[in-house]
Amino acid sequence: MINKIKESSQFIKNEFPSEIHSAIILGSGMGGFEKTFTPLKSFNYSEIPNFIKPSVEGHSGTMTFVEIKEKITVILSGRAHYYEGYNIQDIVLPTRVLSDLNIKNLIITNAAGGVNSNYSPGDIVALKDHINLTGNNPLIGKNIDEFGPRFPDMSEVYNHKFRKIAETVANDFFDYKEGVYAWFTGPTYETPAEVNFAKTIGADLVGMSTVPEAIVARHAGIDVTAFSLVTNLAAGISDSPLSHDEVIEIADKTSQTFQSFMKRFLEEINLAI
Ligand code: HPA
Repeated sequence: MINKIKESSQFIKNEFPSEIHSAIILGSGMGGFEKTFTPLKSFNYSEIPNFIKPSVEGHSGTMTFVEIKEKITVILSGRAHYYEGYNIQDIVLPTRVLSDLNIKNLIITNAAGGVNSNYSPGDIVALKDHINLTGNNPLIGKNIDEFGPRFPDMSEVYNHKFRKIAETVANDFFDYKEGVYAWFTGPTYETPAEVNFAKTIGADLVGMSTVPEAIVARHAGIDVTAFSLVTNLAAGISDSPLSHDEVIEIADKTSQTFQSFMKRFLEEINLAI
């Protein structure tokens, strides 16, 4: 695995040798965000060794380098999901590569189902913690000591200081909320009983991504911030059946607010680091 990571990061270092400060991985609702900046450099995932081309619509599968408040920021548009059948190590490879490129902070976005009854479709929620319900973990296997310890601390996965910045920025855009995200493998949406279970153990959101990326980033000491776009109420919280079309529709509707917020958030983060 380490050889694959090094091969990918070496390719990027050769093509774009500048120091990189921040990174963002875009989920549903953030597709096209990279196009709102002037790129310093851009790659298709298919050009980067070992990167998986995303199969889910709405994402281009590009890595774009931009400058925000004089800090180089890399935007990853599109991710592979565990439910697509890839090895979990390959899912987190781009995040591992980011850490090998010495990135100091990472923002992750996703679409999620709302479990907390105070949430409505279209809400943007900052993650305050997560619960891994998959029984898998991207750090299973030989530890890469160069990146981080065998038993990494996970007591503050989602950086408190950056969440405070998010709260301040959010004031201009939406009502700031925080929640706990439960990671299910998918690709099925959850059953009402599973959602009820997640709620009982403290989850506010359910989704199929983000947690593996957050785990390997924290392992490597990267500060993480993550946001869910609530595209639907989770199964059983509302009576209506779930569909991917509904997820896409709400994601598209909220996209403008999410992207405007994110631009300002990235500016503030880059000024703070
Ligand atoms: N469950 C899991 N993942 C999701 C959902 C959901 O209800 N909505 C969007 N992504």
